[in-house]
Amino acid sequence: MGDLRAKSWAKISAQPESTLAQLFSDHPDRVAQLSTRFLLSDDGQDEEAGAGGIWFDWSKTHLTASLIDDFNELAGAAGFADMRRRLFAGEVVNPTEGRAAEHPALRGVGRDSSVEEAEALRHRMRMLVGAIHAGALGEVKHLIHIGIGGSALGPALAVDALARDLALVDVHVISNIDGVALEAAFAVCDPQTTLVAVASKTFTTIETMTNATSALKWLADNGVSDPSGRVIALTAAPERAVEWGVDETRILPFAESVGGRYSLWSSIGFPVAIAIGWEDFESMLAGAAAIDRHFRDSDGADNLPLRAAFSDLYYARVRGAQTRAVFAYDERLRLLPDYLQQLEMESNGKSVTAEGAPVDAPTAPITWGGVGTDAQHAVFQLLHQGTHLVPVDFIASIAPGDDLDAAHHRILLMNCFAQGAALMSGRHSDDPARNYPGNRPSATILCDDLDPATLGALIAFHEHRTFAAAVLMGINPFDQFGVELGKEIAKKIQQGGESFDPSTENLLALAGLD
Ligand code: F6P
Repeated sequence: MGDLRAKSWAKISAQPESTLAQLFSDHPDRVAQLSTRFLLSDDGQDEEAGAGGIWFDWSKTHLTASLIDDFNELAGAAGFADMRRRLFAGEVVNPTEGRAAEHPALRGVGRDSSVEEAEALRHRMRMLVGAIHAGALGEVKHLIHIGIGGSALGPALAVDALARDLALVDVHVISNIDGVALEAAFAVCDPQTTLVAVASKTFTTIETMTNATSALKWLADNGVSDPSGRVIALTAAPERAVEWGVDETRILPFAESVGGRYSLWSSIGFPVAIAIGWEDFESMLAGAAAIDRHFRDSDGADNLPLRAAFSDLYYARVRGAQTRAVFAYDERLRLLPDYLQQLEMESNGKSVTAEGAPVDAPTAPITWGGVGTDAQHAVFQLLHQGTHLVPVDFIASIAPGDDLDAAHHRILLMNCFAQGAALMSGRHSDDPARNYPGNRPSATILCDDLDPATLGALIAFHEHRTFAAAVLMGINPFDQFGVELGKEIAKKIQQGGESFDPSTENLLALAGLD
């Protein structure tokens, strides 16, 4: 398989490099060839169902029919179809930890037993969410959701995107161990009407457990008679939550086979359901499931996450792009780049293959980004005239998220499209400082609207894009040993008695931590 893969890469690298302008003039039907309208109906195709849709336009990338052929060959050599089958069958796809990765089963797409188990756990969550909304835990105005990494980024994104003006409960997602973050939530929450969700797959993460302890103390200090009765635990380690003092009726478990950064769809999504209501939470899952079925059932460049992975790898491995930028032309998606950073960099920031051999080419590019139009006035100079090649994704919604004069949304969208056009066409000037080289790639994801189903689909699209890229590179996207060493050293510093390098010793002494 290794040789075949190397042969495919050699073919991909040997492809002639046409400019985007040339590709458009050679292929007048390029937009149709490399753009797809994905419908959020059950089968991703049924226009009659009246479901919303998402337009995926990859025509302003350098993908060509013949590059796609070579990437399809690479997918064959990398065993993509079998790895995808294993993913949906709940087989081991994370060999270093001997685990499956069953996030699609949380959306109803996976092996039957896992889907059934996920449904039972979701029912339990639904009952608790319904009871809280119905007042079973007294008046609830605020929820402080404490978690970090995958236990915080998804909930923060979804609540921020979907619960802006109509949150049923005011949700604060707190992750940082820096007490400034938790104090900010305390300052605006009334302890008598606040619930605390402690979200941790392992229920051991030091930031989360320290913040949770401080939140309980805050409740107690402010006259709440049974602080632990205000806590809901969201975890794959329910026994640790019980030990920590959470009553079993308020523990919402999820399966060990769900990775932290893929866990929004499990009970980690509790704050989302609390903020937007159960039906909308389920719509978010349904949108993700539509992408699951599409990813499972379509092949080659018709498979949207796979096509995106082709282009991502082309830029990272052939054109030497060290980063990939994502700009959401939608204030509601301002947290999407943060979410994607963990998803893509924690998954694919690896330097060994799934078999433990060194990789022979770059893996995940650094994911970064921001919101349009703000980013235009901050970082776009580099995109248009800098020396780095940065493939860009633009994400926008045709329907506005605001009720102000329509001019706001019109200007927002016009700017989004103008940036992609400018990156591609450039503009020649005899004055070098005013010259725009152009030929800079971008992809555009244009949603009909940013509703819960669309957000679910957008996130699932990126999950599968990340998985597809990992399979093509032959790496394991589901472990994250790289985060462990720093945690271990921090623990040793806390315990004392170890010595470190002179610089670290000096910093510890300066901060009084020696
Ligand atoms: O340190 C990285 C990490 O393990 C992430 O993968 C995970 O999402 C996060 O920490 C939080 O872990 P937990 O949910 O177990 O608290």
